[in-house]
Amino acid sequence: MASYAITGASKGIGLEYVRQLAANKDNTVLAIVRNPESRAISELATNHPNVHAIKGDVTDPKSILGAAEAAAVITGGKLDVFIHNSNAVDTASIGLSPSQIPFDGEATRKIFEPSLSTGIYGALWATNAFLPLIEKGIQKKIVHISSAMADTNLINKSGVSYAVAYAVSKAGMNVQVAKYAAELAPKGIKVLALSPGWVDTWDSGEKPAAVVQANELMLSQFQAVQPGLKGQIQPDESVRKGIQVIENLNTESSGLLLSQNGNQTSWF
Ligand SMILES: NC(=O)c1ccc[n+]([C@@H]2O[C@H](COP(=O)([O-])OP(=O)(O)OC[C@H]3O[C@@H](n4cnc5c(N)ncnc54)[C@H](OP(=O)(O)O)[C@@H]3O)[C@@H](O)[C@H]2O)c1
Repeated sequence: MASYAITGASKGIGLEYVRQLAANKDNTVLAIVRNPESRAISELATNHPNVHAIKGDVTDPKSILGAAEAAAVITGGKLDVFIHNSNAVDTASIGLSPSQIPFDGEATRKIFEPSLSTGIYGALWATNAFLPLIEKGIQKKIVHISSAMADTNLINKSGVSYAVAYAVSKAGMNVQVAKYAAELAPKGIKVLALSPGWVDTWDSGEKPAAVVQANELMLSQFQAVQPGLKGQIQPDESVRKGIQVIENLNTESSGLLLSQNGNQTSWF
């Protein structure tokens, strides 16, 4: 029997973690979402007594502390695995390469703000809020969902120069994970940055032409790294493999960025 809390659990990879972990009736799964009434998560909570939807916004310290307090009431003050998955980006500027960032302080901060709020500040606030529960848990694992887009080797080989704020935020996340691992090792707490692979989490009907085009460009660039790559994987595959990597997390791998395949070479 294990307990899990997942932030950003309303859709995509976060929702799939809730779905797969809840399939084991012995697990307690806390879905941290900005809107617990949103359809997919409220349906899951209704149909699975071991799923609890808890309101919490990682970009608001008071809100995420409240979520950790609500979680502690459900689990008796302890938690085995905390997964920080929330992410936001400024979609309008995602296509810009670094030399195209404007000479405008406000505009530049606007480009970086969603990524830093969720991936850097939010990751710290959410982790710190749940840390007292993790200290009392049995598994003592903290996972931040990161990205291979922050791997400098992948950037160099693929030539992906855009998504600057997103990649910089995930690179910072990887450093924060290493810092947490260094700090928390004496307490037996293991911390991991986990890249989920390239995953199709589009859930808004037919993909607009611009999204299809962007995916085609990315595929051709990723194929420079992995020639046989066919395209995105589905959330069920990413999460099935991710759960295995989290199960294998130990003091040796604490502080690392690993792919869903459990290594630092096959990112797709
Ligand atoms: N999909 C991929 O190919 C891929 C590749 C590499 C890494 N990743 C990483 O994997 C994670 C999940 O990806 P995904 O594709 O499933 O993402 P997604 O579909 O965009 O979902 C992200 C979640 O983050 C939360 N969120 C969004 N905006 C937020 C905001 N402003 N403040 C706080 N929370 C916010 C939302 O949850 P609530 O509404 O419940 O708060 C949402 O469910 C992310 O960290 C992403 O960077 C994804």
